[in-house]
Amino acid sequence: MRYRDGTDRRTAAIVLCAGKGERTGLGYNKALYMIDGEPMAVHSIKAFTDAGADKVLCVISPADEYALGVYAEDAGAELCYGGGTRTESVRRALACLDDDTEIVLIHDGARPFVTEEVIRGAAENAAENGSGIAAVPTTDAIKVVAGGKILSSPRKSDLYNAQTPQAFRFKEITDAYARVSGDYGDDAEVYALAGYTPRITVGDYANKKITTSADLILGADGLRTGVGYDVHRLVEDRDLILGGVYIPYEKGLLGHSDADVLTHAVMDAMLSAAGLPDIGNIFPDNDPEYKGCSSILMLSHVAKLLKERRLAAHYISAVIVAEKPKLAKFIPRMRETIARAANVPVSSVNIGATTTEGMGVTGEGKAIAAEAYVLAGSSRMR
Ligand code: CTP
Ligand code: MG
Repeated sequence: MRYRDGTDRRTAAIVLCAGKGERTGLGYNKALYMIDGEPMAVHSIKAFTDAGADKVLCVISPADEYALGVYAEDAGAELCYGGGTRTESVRRALACLDDDTEIVLIHDGARPFVTEEVIRGAAENAAENGSGIAAVPTTDAIKVVAGGKILSSPRKSDLYNAQTPQAFRFKEITDAYARVSGDYGDDAEVYALAGYTPRITVGDYANKKITTSADLILGADGLRTGVGYDVHRLVEDRDLILGGVYIPYEKGLLGHSDADVLTHAVMDAMLSAAGLPDIGNIFPDNDPEYKGCSSILMLSHVAKLLKERRLAAHYISAVIVAEKPKLAKFIPRMRETIARAANVPVSSVNIGATTTEGMGVTGEGKAIAAEAYVLAGSSRMR
């Protein structure tokens, strides 16, 4: 990595992903949690490769080798096995680094929002002063408590939240780890115990560690909504299909495909959430291939388009606007059919129906309309 003083120093990053992520309650290692289409660990790894680290070592547990390991290598990291505690994982990772390493940045894979600025700041501090511990001033009032009683209230201006990366001169941190045994909260603690003086560098409030299920919502920054609306004319001699379900009625909807207005609204809402052009662009109504085509098949295709972008619908909410016929008894089947085609659980599809009290084209029975909203986001690994 090239430093401010113009010197190239061999800089390695250790990205720790060998934990279990138990407190998230995900049931799998949180390092694999998908954020904006990529596992959390990949965001963390790329932050260091982008910042110019000469080597990124991703520390994993053997159990995660064929999931996390594959993603990590693909993102440009080398792999090493961690241990039973964070301290042990760091110790093993340090042993995997080459002797000519000059600066090492130790980072929790669970902090995927780290920026290049924070990384470079920490590295520069380590090169200049021996260490650079990313930290931010504490915003909460901190209390020292024993048996439920507050014993003291340390001055806020003295308190910082330590984050990662924690950067060190390689020789000093390996020496520190060689001299202490036991389990510690972070690397600054190990470094200090060995007699060195850790120093802070500018962290970032957004550089949050994903720890509990509440933090996962933070991680889901890829959530987006989409809206879709459609209306078709009711005519004689056509079947009425809504949400992929045949509805016995004297009229049906007119259109190039089966004119399933509800499914069209759902498709447009999904495409809208994915930032894609609407169905008119994807299934042109002058294309003979779509003449009489089942809209449910088209919906499966739309779900595939989202999947290719590592997106999925998380919730679909729609309303049909029709004066007649009564639709309530068909709605459970519409939900099932749409859920299957859109590849979401039935519990994540909600469909309502309403009239417009005799007003407008729908009220006069000349047309049926539908409106849909979709919440979409990363297609998470389950
Ligand atoms: N870590 C590690 N090896 C361990 C334990 C933790 O590499 N034996 C890593 C985690 O993967 C994480 C970081 O250290 O990126 C910070 O630890 P923490 O937030 O506690 O993560 P987990 O240990 O995975 O989560 P939990 O404690 O909830 O199980
Ligand atoms: Mg832990």
